Amino acid sequence: MIAEALLYAATLPFTSKPHRKYIRYSVNLWSRANRCSRQWAEHETNTRRAILAAIAGCKQRRTAVVLGSGLLRDVPIKELAASFDTVVLIDLVHVATVRMKMRRKAYRNVRLIERDLSGYDALAAGEQPEPLGFLRNVPYLDLVVSANLLSQIGRGAQRRFEAERERMPEGTVEQLIAAHLSGLSRMPFKSCLVTDVSYAVIDRNGKTHEEADLMHGVAVPDARAAWAWPVVPIGEESPDYQVIHQVIAAW
Ligand SMILES: C[S@@+](CC[C@H](N)C(=O)[O-])C[C@H]1O[C@@H](n2cnc3c(N)ncnc32)[C@H](O)[C@@H]1O
Repeated sequence: MIAEALLYAATLPFTSKPHRKYIRYSVNLWSRANRCSRQWAEHETNTRRAILAAIAGCKQRRTAVVLGSGLLRDVPIKELAASFDTVVLIDLVHVATVRMKMRRKAYRNVRLIERDLSGYDALAAGEQPEPLGFLRNVPYLDLVVSANLLSQIGRGAQRRFEAERERMPEGTVEQLIAAHLSGLSRMPFKSCLVTDVSYAVIDRNGKTHEEADLMHGVAVPDARAAWAWPVVPIGEESPDYQVIHQVIAAW
């Protein structure tokens, strides 16, 4: 609890006012990722491997953008910074430990941007959401990575949608997931999508008690790699149940 409080306090002054409400989520993620580091290691290695394969496929390496860079646990930041002229990390919040690390000499070409990548506010304003439209204005963009972000956009949108159904169109969550996917696929840069697409709650005997599609029925690109991610291992929230997410990578 003390480490979490310190991280929260250290992150607060660097975070713009509208984004401060998200710090708690990032600190919780930091805490859980540390507790579950052994069980998450394979997922993080697989994600980094997919991103490295996408980097290898880039003919030019001028600017790379990472969407949902978060704690940089599953992002090969050393290799990205060494391979590209400029690397831009985008998330709702960049915690203080990430900001401190990015001050090192090896990361002089890394920029941090706070941004809501969901498109929810545009949809609420009656506009056609184009949450990745800003990428058109990024000069010399050769690679965009969506790093375990898309399901979180869906979850955040679902939470907000449930609280304000009357002012939002039906199919809000589906529209925002589809907008992210089309933003990645319709532009002239190479992309690498890594996302969990579903989860199952499973007991100690291997019996599934609940399943859900995190993509809400929206079709994802064909996966070049897929794996299971024990997001909530046995003992984390319950002595009897675990929550396993299925992850895909496409590049
Ligand atoms: C599962 S974490 C990804 C982990 C991260 N790639 C890493 O290496 O630590 C999901 C990330 O998406 C970010 N996120 C969630 N919703 C977002 C949104 N609407 N816009 C931007 N980032 C968002 C969270 O802050 C979090 O850092």
